[in-house]
Amino acid sequence: MILKNIKQLVTFTGHEAIPGNDPARAQILEGIDIKIEDGLISQIGPNLSGIGPEIDCSDFTVTPGYVDSHTHFIFGGNREDEYRMRLAGASYVEIMEAGGGIRTSVRHTRAASLEDLVESGRIRLMGFLENGITSLESKSGYGLDLETELRQLEAMKVLQAQSALTIVPTFMGAHDIPEEFADRPKAYLDYILETVLPEVTKQGIAQYVDIFTEKGVFGIEESRDFLEQVKQQGYPIRMHADEIVPLDGAVLAGQVAAVSADHLLQISPRGIEALKRSGTIAGLLPLTAFSLRAEYAPARDLLDAGVPVNLATDYNPGSCHSFSVPLLIALSTIYMRMSMLEVLCGLTINPAASLGIAHQVGTLEVGKRADILLHRAPNIHFLPYHFGVNTVEIVIINGEVQLDRRNSHVSRK
Ligand code: NIG
Ligand code: FE
Repeated sequence: MILKNIKQLVTFTGHEAIPGNDPARAQILEGIDIKIEDGLISQIGPNLSGIGPEIDCSDFTVTPGYVDSHTHFIFGGNREDEYRMRLAGASYVEIMEAGGGIRTSVRHTRAASLEDLVESGRIRLMGFLENGITSLESKSGYGLDLETELRQLEAMKVLQAQSALTIVPTFMGAHDIPEEFADRPKAYLDYILETVLPEVTKQGIAQYVDIFTEKGVFGIEESRDFLEQVKQQGYPIRMHADEIVPLDGAVLAGQVAAVSADHLLQISPRGIEALKRSGTIAGLLPLTAFSLRAEYAPARDLLDAGVPVNLATDYNPGSCHSFSVPLLIALSTIYMRMSMLEVLCGLTINPAASLGIAHQVGTLEVGKRADILLHRAPNIHFLPYHFGVNTVEIVIINGEVQLDRRNSHVSRK
């Protein structure tokens, strides 16, 4: 396949996260072609020829497929009733303390079969794809017992075998304290370390381990002990840190050299320094801040300090029931004051690096997989300008067209 006469191609380059999402490291090419062979990008240049289908890209801006480095998309049931309570003024924490929140989804997920989880997950994957997401991370954490955590991870494995999208599984048994262990967080974490994680390892079905370090969930010292032992069991770490109450979770993320520290709505200057020192990537989740009516993370402070930033959806049944990339771009540019090139970096190479897949995806370069978005836009800066609107017209994964909206427009005749 050849993508002909691309109006504007925008990509970062390389295999590593870019400190401060430096826009000077973006590559912008015009009037160029991309040749795809065996699912990989084989050439980028002017006037390429070859056999096979051509797509005229003279109206399109072309970017790498988006990489979503933080989702919880495998769960049973829904929580629209709790969302309605939040719209009426109840806080996320009040609902959680009343036994709702994550625990509601745990009840639903324990009651769901593998088939239920696969089927609802399959439909959600189509939604990610429509938003231009071609790779995503996926956390367990709505089982909080051996059987259900494994079932969630198994659903991801089944979906990976059926789907063109890349799914990177994370074990998040430490998402909350289940009712059986109420008020015994330490005993629960020991159960995870001694019983659940070894079985996950035996089955080889998770690549990262994550924890929700938060007031009322897991405290700093508990989290530290847990993460040290997780590292000894051979896993790189992701963290939910400084989301609601400032506990200096980001400082801990730096100390344990987490790959990614996410949320960070309440990060302190010490936290920013710690992330910078350890090379931990900051995962910002503006859709969640929006849904919680919270202050956005201090993106400018992180970027200006040279920390690499990811932007992810955090799609989940509670704090953020959305994977709208158009809304994410709008919030990042308007409220977090990021430029569109910084945003693109946070949606492509940086998350790919944080998931260990940047040797395959995250940039458009010869030898990388052809995961490519064709946007109906004359240039990259049109994306935030057309705020809240999906510009993704065609999605190519592994060299194959997975979504094509060209025929869904009203005929001009
Ligand atoms: O990233 N903060 C913890 N976990 C999710 C919320 C999960 C839920 O509400 O079900 C998050 O926001
Ligand atoms: Fe999350």
